[in-house]
Amino acid sequence: EAFEGRGVWRYAAALPFEEGVSLPEGDTPLHSVPRLEADVGVRTLRIKHEGMNPTGSFKDRGMTVGVRVAQELGVERLACASTGNTSAALAAYGARADLETLVLLPSGKVAAGKLAQAGLHGARILEVDGNFDDCLDIVQALAERGEVYLLNSLNPFRLEGQKTIFFELLEQFHADEGRYPDRVVLPAGNAGNTAALYKALRELVHAGALAPGDVPKITAVQAEGSAPLVEAVEEGNDDVERWSDVETRATAIRIGYPVNARKALPGIHATGGTAVAVSDEAITEAQRALAEEGVGVEPASAASVAGLRKLRESGVVNEGEDVVCLTTGHLLKDPDAAAAAGTAPESVPNDADAVLDHIEGRRRS
Ligand code: F0G
Repeated sequence: EAFEGRGVWRYAAALPFEEGVSLPEGDTPLHSVPRLEADVGVRTLRIKHEGMNPTGSFKDRGMTVGVRVAQELGVERLACASTGNTSAALAAYGARADLETLVLLPSGKVAAGKLAQAGLHGARILEVDGNFDDCLDIVQALAERGEVYLLNSLNPFRLEGQKTIFFELLEQFHADEGRYPDRVVLPAGNAGNTAALYKALRELVHAGALAPGDVPKITAVQAEGSAPLVEAVEEGNDDVERWSDVETRATAIRIGYPVNARKALPGIHATGGTAVAVSDEAITEAQRALAEEGVGVEPASAASVAGLRKLRESGVVNEGEDVVCLTTGHLLKDPDAAAAAGTAPESVPNDADAVLDHIEGRRRS
């Protein structure tokens, strides 16, 4: 009630400030996808598309808060390690705040759109011959020496902003359906968003805004080649074992040591949720299925839908469930993956009759 501000800042009562460095972010759509819903076989399937934020991913919700904190602290240099989206968001919000920005990226493993964003917004891009986890180790070392202000999801203020995804999602679902979803399915890399979801739910329950019986099951999805969180859930552990070799087409979640696992795993357990790993082929198939409904997402985002499908097929999810899948990044983030998954261009002659012959499959004599 009495919401002022827009997007993320409509929820200022649950945030450390009244406003932040804003582009503005949030207010993303909750799509219905009737064909996919019927195909997956659940009562309700909605897609919360976080790719519709200003830099094309949910990271903007964290940066609007995190960069505001950096301003309060009076730091000079912002930094992050990234599989791409965090760097794009930090570059944009750092530029907006007129602060120096440094991003450390795994060389050759960042999708083209994300790299282009970081560069155009003027970040210094440092490519490391290693994976994301190595980049994070370096940036943490720099932060400990006081050289940079760290804006990875280890920074708790990032997660404060990301809580608003779930406030918004629950409000939108309830406005449309008159009830709350049974399950929220989301891709997990560092498990920051998974941790933010649990924190959002706890705060709502403590505030009396959500009945304990209405808390959705937190369901995290990883790529098979990069699934330490899934391993921890399957083995009933409280923390993850670091995977030193990770690989997946969904480069955004190509992460071997999810640093927020200890905040995320209790949420998965407490809500009766789970974690599941999906193949790259299943991810691409889900990316196409979403695209066929007009919803364009990057591969990591499609993992949520691929995970839901797998859990439905194995009977973990039943046909009566109301489910929201989170899609975390926009299709244009990874144009190469999109091009590889979609229809290929065909060359045609510069002539209308010839074009018509071509599309109707006629041969000219
Ligand atoms: N989806 C996308 C598109 C992402 O970019 C990320 C993380 C995730 C999901 C996973 O979120 O880490 O909170 O579990 N990307 C980070 C980055 C690591 O550097 O852009 P998480």
